[in-house]
Amino acid sequence: MTEHTITIRRPDDWHLHFRDGEIMEQVVPYTARQFGRAIVMPNLSPPVTETASGAAYRDRILTAVPAGVEFTPLMTCYLTDGTDPADLARGAAEGVFTAAKLYPANATTNSAHGVSDVAKIYPVLEAMEASDIVLCVHGEVTESHIDVFDREAEFIERHMRSIVRDFPNLRVVFEHITTSDAVDFVMGEGDQVAATITPQHLHINRNAMLVGGMQPHNYCLPVAKREAHRLALRKAATSGSPKFFLGTDSAPHLRSAKESACGCAGIFNAPFALESYLAVFEEEGALEHFEAFASLNGPRFYKLPVSDETMTLRRVPVTVPDSIPMAGEEIVPFHAGETLNWRIAE
Ligand code: NCD
Ligand code: ZN
Repeated sequence: MTEHTITIRRPDDWHLHFRDGEIMEQVVPYTARQFGRAIVMPNLSPPVTETASGAAYRDRILTAVPAGVEFTPLMTCYLTDGTDPADLARGAAEGVFTAAKLYPANATTNSAHGVSDVAKIYPVLEAMEASDIVLCVHGEVTESHIDVFDREAEFIERHMRSIVRDFPNLRVVFEHITTSDAVDFVMGEGDQVAATITPQHLHINRNAMLVGGMQPHNYCLPVAKREAHRLALRKAATSGSPKFFLGTDSAPHLRSAKESACGCAGIFNAPFALESYLAVFEEEGALEHFEAFASLNGPRFYKLPVSDETMTLRRVPVTVPDSIPMAGEEIVPFHAGETLNWRIAE
């Protein structure tokens, strides 16, 4: 490619994890320097299940935004079997909640309080459809007999099709998709169904986790799949289709929690997220679709204004550090030790 700079409307991150406390304070600035807004996942321990705790968490995040940086956290409500539809509708009306998150119980990190049976939250989904609140879905079944690599495809057949059929006006984001099955599903549905795609699922397949020794820093959920799926995701993300947009799923876990006999799922990609995505668009010869994916499709789906700020990236190499000091320990970022070709212009 010959272009040396690229300027786009300021992007947003439509799915990430900030955690809380000291880690939150240290990770929020990485996101806020790139993204104008972010959809913040509610899987704290205990999770954010009510308007009051959502508002309090938003306030804590705002204290971690560096002075002079414009950044808006968009909060999500963690759905449980006991979610009160009236509280959720109130939270949305008051501008606390932008979306609600469906975690099947025990699908991923801190999801033990998640929904045990989608049928149990049908009254909540009805209220969300009436109030026009976006539903974000972690689309994996959790039954122990279903192979971990098949859990997303199985979720589509068992749950996604019926949710979309039964709530035709509910806007649904299929979060962090990892399979060609999910791409095909999203493409086959109407405008009310979209998907986020992470940088890691565009860069790595399951070999990156399992070949040459266990690579815990490439382990996240949904787990990376085989190469054919990665190629389908790259095609979808770079296609220019308005149905796919940026959601990093940046999920910080300290090195000690990753390099453990029972290592946590999650990849911390916030420090070089935009650079990571841009590498994919350049490799695919699709720089002209980068702005739509990063900055336009998400706001349109969420019915929020596109940013009136811009951001410029320069084609200069940047080496990602091997580790980043964090909360008295360290964390290994995505692309650790690799060189990326683009850098956000300061
Ligand atoms: C996320 C986390 O650590 O909170 N982990 C991950 O692997 N993506 C949870 C999630 O989004 O599944
Ligand atoms: Zn996530």
